[in-house]
Amino acid sequence: MTSPAAGGPLRVAVVGAGPAGVYTADSLTKKDPTTEVDIFDRLPAPFGLLRYGVAPDHMKMKNLAGTLQKVIDNPTVRFFGNVELGRDITTTELLADYHAVVYTVGASTDRPMGIPGEHLRGSIAATDFVAWYCGHPDAEAQPVELDAQHAAVIGLGNVALDVARILVRDPEEMAPTDVPDSVLDALRASKIRDVHIVGRRGPEHVKFTLKELREMGELPGVDVVVDPAHFGNVPDELEKNLAKMVEEMRSWSTRESTGAPRRLHLHFFAPPQEVLGTERVEGLTIKRGDGVETLPVGLVFRSIGYLGVPVPGVPFDEANKIVPTADHRVVGGQVEIGEYAAGWVKRGATGVIGTNRSDADHTVEVIVGDRDQLLARDVKPGSAEELIRARVAQLVTIEGWAGIDAQEKALGEKRGNVRVKVHTWQSMLEAAGHTLG
Ligand SMILES: Cc1cc2nc3c(=O)[nH]c(=O)nc-3n(C[C@H](O)[C@H](O)[C@H](O)COP(=O)(O)OP(=O)(O)OC[C@H]3O[C@@H](n4cnc5c(N)ncnc54)[C@H](O)[C@@H]3O)c2cc1C
Ligand SMILES: NC(=O)c1ccc[n+]([C@@H]2O[C@H](COP(=O)([O-])OP(=O)(O)OC[C@H]3O[C@@H](n4cnc5c(N)ncnc54)[C@H](OP(=O)(O)O)[C@@H]3O)[C@@H](O)[C@H]2O)c1
Repeated sequence: MTSPAAGGPLRVAVVGAGPAGVYTADSLTKKDPTTEVDIFDRLPAPFGLLRYGVAPDHMKMKNLAGTLQKVIDNPTVRFFGNVELGRDITTTELLADYHAVVYTVGASTDRPMGIPGEHLRGSIAATDFVAWYCGHPDAEAQPVELDAQHAAVIGLGNVALDVARILVRDPEEMAPTDVPDSVLDALRASKIRDVHIVGRRGPEHVKFTLKELREMGELPGVDVVVDPAHFGNVPDELEKNLAKMVEEMRSWSTRESTGAPRRLHLHFFAPPQEVLGTERVEGLTIKRGDGVETLPVGLVFRSIGYLGVPVPGVPFDEANKIVPTADHRVVGGQVEIGEYAAGWVKRGATGVIGTNRSDADHTVEVIVGDRDQLLARDVKPGSAEELIRARVAQLVTIEGWAGIDAQEKALGEKRGNVRVKVHTWQSMLEAAGHTLG
């Protein structure tokens, strides 16, 4: 380790090892290589939604894990997995050990639609579906049954595109990805042939990005169906990328059917009204002009945004579902100076992975500016680690994560892939070197 800067090394706890957390550690250690950063995550594996959100068929994006890995391999950065703030350690305990605590816990729950029938069997939050196909250990308890010909995906954002693409894509194209075998089997057995993307507004209001949208029009074995009438009132003047997206979708509206085995339907100006059914989903009503139309779907995936969840001991803005901050410092925290936030938990659930890099940089600039006040805080280095080691029998350090990583690569080799996810709590902890009863 380099010799400490004047005033001694700054000790920072980062809670959440997603992109925002890892970029925070990176920025802190780049600004001052003596900074000691411990990153905690409730999961045994780092990288948050890069690992458990980014779609498995976007394999190039997943390679970013290599860059994030280099950060946690830095000698002054440590990873402590299977440690949940609020369950295994408290904010007070972290603040007693570290000069600063940065909350980067993301936004892990779904935004509800608030319509009748939303909680019938077969009405699924994108958060749960995404967690399932990404092999998130919490998803093992809720296997997904893709047992209907028609499925609706509500929302016009990139997550809706991911969900729709995974549902409509030829499952054999998922075989080279890291999805667990159980997910691949379920996709192969899927009865879904028609996926309906349902948006409450028009083509000029989509939240997609161009590359992701274009991909939908190029999926082998999939016809895209969209009514040309939806483009009648689109304004002439639109932002450049939006104009390109509207043109792309307009071009789909005049495509002839090729008789492909699966279809992707786009419905605009169609606010969802009710999920129909008694025990499970039997249809979805959508508003159409002055009337109501029923889509004959047996599955409904709501993909209308992610929301933050409160963490015990951390201030929470209930209205916006974020940790409240002013100039990146947490408002209403336990100490005057010492608590910060970055990423989705601070900004809300918008922005791509790269957005969190500049966002983390902004938070770190403020931490560095507060350095003298932070170093004046009376802390007892090592006290939190002592508590965690006593409380968390299956602590996962960087070595444990290396064990999970190695096992995933070995599983991948069997399927001819780079990696296949180890996806249950038990198998992850065992791969991390723990013996479970
Ligand atoms: C389905 C989906 C697909 C996406 N695809 C892309 C894509 O292809 N390209 C792109 O650029 N962006 C994509 N994004 C956006 C990108 O994932 C986010 O911008 C980014 O992950 C947000 O980073 P974060 O660190 O704030 O949150 P997260 O990535 O959610 O990380 C938060 C971390 O905190 C941990 N945590 C939560 N609570 C606690 C606690 N109490 N104690 C300890 N740890 C805790 C979590 O386990 C998690 O690891 C996607 C988002 C979603 C939802
Ligand atoms: N490949 C990638 O780069 C990638 C992949 C996935 C996610 N991401 C990023 O992750 C972030 C989150 O994505 P997201 O798709 O979850 O969110 P998003 O981009 O905010 O999109 C949410 C969608 O839900 C709609 N919606 C909200 N409330 C609704 C309601 N009650 N009824 C019907 N529709 C409703 C919104 O419509 P209105 O506009 O009408 O409100 C919007 O179309 C985004 O920044 C996204 O770009 C990136």
